[in-house]
Amino acid sequence: MRSLFKLVVLATCLFGSLPSEAIPSKDCAYRVKERISPPRGWVKHGDAPADRKISLKFALPQSKFGELEKHLYEVSDPDHERYGQHLSKEEVEELVAPHPESLDTVNDWLASLGFTEEDIVRSSAQDWITIKIPISMAEQILHAKYHVWKHVESGDYIVRTTSYSLPETLHEHIELVQPTTMFGRFKPEKSNIFKATPLPDFPAASKSEGVISAASGVTVDASCNQIITITCLQQLYNAVGFTPSAKGNSVGITGYLEQFANMQDLQSFFADQRPDALNSSFEVVSVAGGLNNQSLAEAGDEANLDVQFAFGISHPISPTFFTTAGRPPFIPDLDEPADDDENEPYTTWLDFMLSHPNPPLAISTSYGDDEQTVPFSFAQRACAGFAQLGARGVSLMFSSGDGGVGDGDPDPATQTCITNDGRNLTKFIPGFPASCPFVTSVGGTSHIPEVAVSTFFSGGGFSNFFPRPSYQDKDVKAYLAKLPKGLYAGLFNPNGRAIPDVSAQSDLFKVFIGGRAFLIGGTSASSPSFTGFVALLNDVRLKAGKSPLGFLNPFLYSKGFAGLNDITSGNNAGCGTPGFNASKGWDPGNASFSAVTGLGTPNFGILKKLVLDSH
Ligand SMILES: *[C@@H]1O[C@H](CO)[C@@H](O)[C@H](O)[C@H]1NC(C)=O
Ligand SMILES: *[C@@H]1O[C@H](CO)[C@@H](O)[C@H](O)[C@H]1NC(C)=O
Ligand SMILES: *[C@@H]1O[C@H](CO)[C@@H](O)[C@H](O)[C@H]1NC(C)=O
Ligand SMILES: *[C@@H]1O[C@H](CO)[C@@H](O)[C@H](O)[C@H]1NC(C)=O
Ligand SMILES: *[C@@H]1O[C@H](CO)[C@@H](O)[C@H](O)[C@H]1NC(C)=O
Repeated sequence: MRSLFKLVVLATCLFGSLPSEAIPSKDCAYRVKERISPPRGWVKHGDAPADRKISLKFALPQSKFGELEKHLYEVSDPDHERYGQHLSKEEVEELVAPHPESLDTVNDWLASLGFTEEDIVRSSAQDWITIKIPISMAEQILHAKYHVWKHVESGDYIVRTTSYSLPETLHEHIELVQPTTMFGRFKPEKSNIFKATPLPDFPAASKSEGVISAASGVTVDASCNQIITITCLQQLYNAVGFTPSAKGNSVGITGYLEQFANMQDLQSFFADQRPDALNSSFEVVSVAGGLNNQSLAEAGDEANLDVQFAFGISHPISPTFFTTAGRPPFIPDLDEPADDDENEPYTTWLDFMLSHPNPPLAISTSYGDDEQTVPFSFAQRACAGFAQLGARGVSLMFSSGDGGVGDGDPDPATQTCITNDGRNLTKFIPGFPASCPFVTSVGGTSHIPEVAVSTFFSGGGFSNFFPRPSYQDKDVKAYLAKLPKGLYAGLFNPNGRAIPDVSAQSDLFKVFIGGRAFLIGGTSASSPSFTGFVALLNDVRLKAGKSPLGFLNPFLYSKGFAGLNDITSGNNAGCGTPGFNASKGWDPGNASFSAVTGLGTPNFGILKKLVLDSH
């Protein structure tokens, strides 16, 4: 393929150095497809290594996405007659398949460049095409110049371009190409503040001296104000004594960046907090060659936190951990070019999940980045992928971030709130994927009675990419109406999708990592915890012969709020402001939305009745 490619390139007009008699065909006219300003915080480090391989992914337009969205909302709306009638994998694929003309045009182009079907990997719905090629070749076919970029603060490296082009005739048939302009790092959303607190001698989760009352009327061990365990969450969220037993239920955790979930640590955790789960484990599924190193030295703090709490709460619901390949930080000085570590792991996981016949019914992801580090075209497309999983009956939870209204950085000293668009405007910085309207974003609380977390700050605010979905209209308009007039004008988009949707405890979680116990915090903790309870709710529905919950938000905003604990105090500081306030509902006993803690934290005892109200 390589040598053929060179010939073909010369025969077309990529370099504009054709014999004078050759008339450039229309296909030869390239036009810029996407151009960005070099994002803040990144500096050009050097040329990209020409021989290094990159997996270029081309997104073809999903011709009937509007129809898919309509189906999604119908099957997710508890008041609709189609509620719970999720689509099959084939039905979803039919709705996102590209138009045959797009497929033909792109196929012809790739063939003209010398690629054969063997060089091409296609997604199940044919809407993504991937080719793995050296960076030098990517530069030629995209008229792009890749560089190694360095992230100043973290020292991470990445290979990206700030602009790429496509032949004019392909613009309407290719929505986007990545990795090109995407500087998102999708880091774990975990606060570093408490990670450094190893607990001496594995103290057993102590039965406390007394009990405290949570707002919902339940009683909780007093020790839960120092250390959060599975028992604390079962008490606080009113699920004591509930044992799942339905067949066909499942729960999943995603892992990236070589974060490995350690089985031995899970046993230590179970021995400490969930003895009846001892000896049970989880399935590990490798995505695109993702590794699974079970050495204790390689145990990931994020991965261990996620599996220990999600699987600890939902035991014995069938658990899966997905380990997706891809390892930024890229190491630019490596003599031997590592193969393909430039991939963009997020859509890799989505492709895999969408081609899976049976995705887990509730999946938690604790990785994200500032919305503005992700090109709009990419955010839209990834968000459309989440909609497809929702239409198939999967509930997707994402942590809302740890930097309050600022960027995901929980440290106010290094937090930045300046736009990446070349204009350097000061603005609140929402997180992605939490800002996608087709996922459930989970913010953080702490203490009992619960308040919005303040040791780091629960990510919240308003998307600059996605408009407010109608399921949020009533609640978010009411919340906006209560904001002091003119406050934060210009700092946020009041018409944007508001985040988070819900919240859960997020600090002082006792987790076993590499053979030791740590206290760890972050919305990284709240998302898997909330997901554990969603899995329990799916159990309730499956046992009653009903469908799984699927995309949760229409249910949460129309009915579920009555089974959520309103969080009425705390705020999410950031960008040198106090951020937004948690707010008291006008309706005591019913949660009301705030851009800090969403609708609130789960009261399983009430939710398990509410989820049965709909067919
Ligand atoms: C776990 O396995 C050990 C060793 O086989 C056994 O002694 C113990 O009873 C098991 N525990 C549970 C909860 O199954
Ligand atoms: C797993 O990690 C350990 C410790 O870092 C390392 O020594 C070992 O070679 C790794 N194993 C594999 C199979 O990569
Ligand atoms: C924005 O900030 C960057 C980095 O500090 C600077 O190089 C650039 O000139 C600024 N642009 C504007 C329009 O102020
Ligand atoms: C939050 O509450 C404080 C204290 O009541 C008030 O001064 C501030 O304006 C409120 N901020 C918002 C965004 O509502
Ligand atoms: C909560 O809201 C529901 C639905 O609007 C209403 O029926 C119920 O009375 C409210 N509960 C309280 C305690 O106000």
